[in-house]
This record gives sequence, C-alpha cells and structure tokens, in this order.
Amino acid sequence: MKTRVVVVTGGASGIGRGVAEGFLAAGDRVVLADVDARAAHDAGREIGAEHVELDIADPASVEAAAALVADRFGPVDVLVNNAGLAGGGGPLTGLDVEVFDRCLRVNFRGTFLMTRAVGAHMAAAGTRGAIVNISSIGARQPTPGLGHYEATKAAVDALTRSAALELAPHGIRVNAVAPGPVLTPMTAGFAADPAARAAWEARIPLGRIAAVGDIVPAVVFLASPAAGHITGVSLAVDGGQLLT
Ligand SMILES: NC(=O)c1ccc[n+]([C@@H]2O[C@H](COP(=O)([O-])OP(=O)(O)OC[C@H]3O[C@@H](n4cnc5c(N)ncnc54)[C@H](O)[C@@H]3O)[C@@H](O)[C@H]2O)c1
Repeated sequence: MKTRVVVVTGGASGIGRGVAEGFLAAGDRVVLADVDARAAHDAGREIGAEHVELDIADPASVEAAAALVADRFGPVDVLVNNAGLAGGGGPLTGLDVEVFDRCLRVNFRGTFLMTRAVGAHMAAAGTRGAIVNISSIGARQPTPGLGHYEATKAAVDALTRSAALELAPHGIRVNAVAPGPVLTPMTAGFAADPAARAAWEARIPLGRIAAVGDIVPAVVFLASPAAGHITGVSLAVDGGQLLT
C-alpha cells in the first residue's frame, strides 16, 4: 500500500501533535501545518514529521500551503482540521467582539477554507481520501462563558455533514471527533486551578479529563479504511459527559 500523506493543521501543539504522532506510528507521512512556524519546525524535528507554515483563516495562505504540500509531498490522502482556539471567554452579553471574531475566523472560516482547498485537490486528483475535523462536545452541551467557541464548533459539525454529503460521490469521507475537555496547552490554565479542574471532572461520568492519547485513536480510526462506510458523523470522545 502507498504511504499516505496526512496534513494536520495546528499540528505543532496539543491534540494536533498527538494526532500527528498517531499517524506516524501507523506508517504515514505527516505534515504539520501551523501558524507558529518555529513550533511546527521544532515539533516536526522531534517527532519525525514535515512542516509548513500557514494561517488557516487566510485564503491566500491556505491556497499557497495546499499547492506547496501537493508539490513537495504529492496528493493529500488525509486532512485533519485540528487548528482552533477559544481566544478568551465570558458571558455573551459582555464578550469582546474581537474575541468572537477571532474565534469564528479560525475555527469556522479556517475549517471551511482548508476543506475547500484540500477537498478540491483530493477530488481533482481522484484521491478517495478522508477529512477529520476536530469539533467539541461544546457544540452540543453549553458551558457558560464559552458560547462563542461552542457556536463555532456547532458550525464545524454542520460543515462536516455538508462536506460529507458533497464529497461522497468522490469517495471522500468527512467526519469529526468531538472531545470533551483535554489536557493541552489550551486548557493548562484551568487544569492548574484545583477548584476549576474538580468542577470539570465532576461533569464527566468516567471521572477524569482526557489526555491527548484518549483522542488520537478516534481520529486515526475515522481516517482509516476500517471506517470506510462512516461519513458525516461527529464522534464524541468525552468520558460520557454528553450523557449528563
Ligand atoms: N483542549 C481541549 O480541551 C479541547 C476540547 C475540545 C476540542 N478541542 C479542539 O482541539 C483542537 C486543538 O486544541 P488544543 O487543545 O490541542 O490547542 P493548542 O492551543 O494546544 O494547539 C492549537 C494549535 O493550533 C495552531 N493554530 C492556531 N491558530 C491557527 C491558525 N490560524 N492557523 C494554523 N494553525 C493555528 C496553534 O499554533 C497551535 O499549534 C482545537 O480545534 C480545539 O478547539 C480542544
């Protein structure tokens, strides 16, 4: 079997880096695509991945990176739309509009732009590929103070379904993984606060906040031939939090 080319946005840190390592362990060639070029370079060297610099929210940057990847590594087989941020938080009635716009721009617009560019490349190349979006259970279960972020993830779930339907005739599958809270640099602040951490843990039936390694297998599976008849789903990996 040909070595697959896997692009992981936001692959320099947290879940993206763990996902990249999961694909490397499966024998794939992995490209870390991140706005933080230095971190992507360093992470790539540490784990044995390639890297490209891009801002997923910028159409020109996305198109240039997609062309560069195709040129350097060949057609993309798997795209993991992982890059995302909350960028702050607070009640909607007082939320800084800039925080809202930045979150929308990266999480929603960025996922759209990457799907648009790489999905088009896949279809043109005749690649029966897979796209896995990193959503959040917040798309389905609100937490006060995260409304702006959760709305972008609900949009990612909607994009997942639309793209799955539109790309199915090309044999391209599109799914999402929706984690509950995961210990990464994004959550380091609250995880270091014992009261905040206990409050999160109390919401999780399995009793603990996920590690990156809890999320990775679901992403690798959804991109694999074993998931060949699964498209358009958003798979919660949340220790049962959506049950509460
Ligand atoms: N950590 C959690 O609890 C949690 C829970 C559910 C979903 N998620 C989602 O998982 C994904 C990864 O989160 P994480 O916790 O690993 O975060 P992280 O902050 O550790 O890593 C995010 C990475 O994305 C990159 N990035 C940010 N904006 C970018 C842009 N415009 N273009 C390209 N790269 C960009 C950053 O440089 C960084 O390397 C995000 O989409 C996040 O919303 C995280």
